[in-house]
Amino acid sequence: MNAQDPSYPSSAMSKALAGEICPHPPIWLMRQAGRYLPEYRALRATTGSFLDLCLNPAKAAEITLQPIHRFNFDAAIVFSDILMVPYAFGQALSFVEGEGPRLDPVDAESIARLDIDPVRQRLSPVFETITRVRDDLAADKALIGFCGAPWTVATYMIAGRGTPDQKPARLMATRTPALLQTLMDRIVDASVISLLGQIEAGANVVQIFDSWAGILNDEDFDRWSIAPTKTIIDRVRSAAPAVPIIGFPKGAGLRLERYAAATGVNAIGIDWTVPVDFARDRLQPVATIQGNLDPLVLVTGGIALDDAVDRIVSTLRDGPFIFNLGHGIVPETPIAHVEQLVARVRGN
Ligand code: CP3
Repeated sequence: MNAQDPSYPSSAMSKALAGEICPHPPIWLMRQAGRYLPEYRALRATTGSFLDLCLNPAKAAEITLQPIHRFNFDAAIVFSDILMVPYAFGQALSFVEGEGPRLDPVDAESIARLDIDPVRQRLSPVFETITRVRDDLAADKALIGFCGAPWTVATYMIAGRGTPDQKPARLMATRTPALLQTLMDRIVDASVISLLGQIEAGANVVQIFDSWAGILNDEDFDRWSIAPTKTIIDRVRSAAPAVPIIGFPKGAGLRLERYAAATGVNAIGIDWTVPVDFARDRLQPVATIQGNLDPLVLVTGGIALDDAVDRIVSTLRDGPFIFNLGHGIVPETPIAHVEQLVARVRGN
């Protein structure tokens, strides 16, 4: 039984994603499985590299469930990475401790050679992780699958790493847009294979992370963020119409409105810079809102945390809403602050 089965039990997440207003919003946190958890660090120490962990379904499934066991969140998100798509193309990938991802940068020749054939097979450990988690997860919890938006994935494939402003990809967008388009088309194909594989394996919801959407100029935002995201959504919907899709174009600001209308996402993730009354007035009429506590306020805790949570919840609770952070939880976050947050959101 999977999310497309009409008899599948409904979760608070699926209700909020269908546009229902919940007495207390469902809550999960981006990067909820990660280094702030001692049980994650302990398991991480038993495995060679972060990539090995993503490719080990038994361990990845255990890590996915760790934050559910500890905090009883309403959703689990599969432990994997958006850079599994370049990995699936055969691009060399590693993660340097304390620094981040490293890939062999793509060029015109390697872009022309990108081959979609091995992608499904190379992603099979991720699909197996999802099947394992879904088997162990309570029926009233949602399981979220994900991919990176093509623009964000392309920025890492082109630079070979994270940079402060992803200049190499922006230069390709202006110097050789046709080459970037070829790369984006291949990433779209691989992302559809990835999301449909995750859905088939048991994911109930999928999220598309466009972490670098905010650095695009206004015209490029339509071409490189909205358009490929919409293609992915249309293709996933035609094969799996019942599965809700969350879009998270970080830094999109005023363009969130255009993104929500043009892509047709069921829910839109908002980062912590987005005014919540703008989200309520301009976005919530067309999509469920997901967000948007500043991850550093969660590090601070105390009254500052309670006040920030109350402001967000009181503004957004009269429409469809999922509580989350405005970006990933940071490693120095105290566990007690996460407990305080969950209790506050649930009114306990
Ligand atoms: O949210 C979750 O708990 C699920 C797992 C998840 C990871 N990465 C695990 C991870 C998800 C959804 C991602 C998404 C991801 N990965 C994004 C989009 C969201 C965002 O944060 O903007 C991006 C841009 C990446 C690429 C990536 N992976 C970077 C830049 C880094 C290094 C920075 C860092 O936080 O270390 C990673 C590594 C990574 N991905 C870690 C985790 C838990 C840390 C690896 C470790 O444990 O050493």
